[in-house]
Amino acid sequence: MEFITIDAWPPNAPRDYRLDLEAGNVLYFPSTPFTLSADAQDFLRSLDFAGKAMHKNIAYRPSGDRVTGFQGTPEQQAKLLPIMREYSRRVVEFTAALLPQYGAAWKLDYASFRPLEESSRDLPTNKRNDLLHTDAFPSRPTNGDLIMRVFTNIHPSKTRNWITTDPFPVLAEKFARDAGLERIANSGWTEPAVRLLHGIGLPVVPRSSYDRFMLRFHEYLKRNEDFQANCTKYRFDFPPGSTWLTFTDVVAHSVHSGQHALEQTFIVSKRSLARSENAPVRVLERLCGKQLVSAG
Ligand SMILES: [Fe+2]
Repeated sequence: MEFITIDAWPPNAPRDYRLDLEAGNVLYFPSTPFTLSADAQDFLRSLDFAGKAMHKNIAYRPSGDRVTGFQGTPEQQAKLLPIMREYSRRVVEFTAALLPQYGAAWKLDYASFRPLEESSRDLPTNKRNDLLHTDAFPSRPTNGDLIMRVFTNIHPSKTRNWITTDPFPVLAEKFARDAGLERIANSGWTEPAVRLLHGIGLPVVPRSSYDRFMLRFHEYLKRNEDFQANCTKYRFDFPPGSTWLTFTDVVAHSVHSGQHALEQTFIVSKRSLARSENAPVRVLERLCGKQLVSAG
């Protein structure tokens, strides 16, 4: 895999970066290619000192225009919403210009601010960011669409330190069977009990076989000590003021240190890929010979 540096934005000659991303690379902008006011950055960084009045992330959902995960003073709350709204608007505008084919069909997911120092967090295994993993969302199944995330390091001096490894097709070839792909593929698109509970209106999440496998794979990789210790590793320290993006379900990644990152998530339609066979769902379907998501 590669960290592909893009120095100039807007570019002198447009280029379709979809194949680079779909192959499991990271696009890296040494200088953030959209505007984030110094005031907004100062304000976000200052929230660290507002006591314990926040969760691990402050989240903004563009569709609901609402901030969650923060219980500061009414003045802070009033200031935070327009800052997150503006950040989300700018990063979406930039990403749509960079990747117009994805932008025509993506769904906007959460934007978030990650205020905590990653190196000193004490979390259960499944929530640890310092173990290599592919992303999967328990509450928001994608039905085979992909998770793309744009990150910006707004710390004034510290790098944000990532490790990545081989892309999804390589990991799936090695580990999908051991992680239970056949069993999940054979057990139907949704667990019968969940289908039943969902059918009578209870708040459970029906998941495709693909989504169930991806949740399982996230945990499997984190708990696989041999993989964590011995896999190929690519390290990259993202400097302050830089921005990078990747498919976080294609590129296994871990974060070892760093503080104050902004991030916007996009759910990219598998139909908008440059090569639809690149989608993790197609990789898994080839491996097990079964359909893992509903058609449509
Ligand atoms: Fe992740």
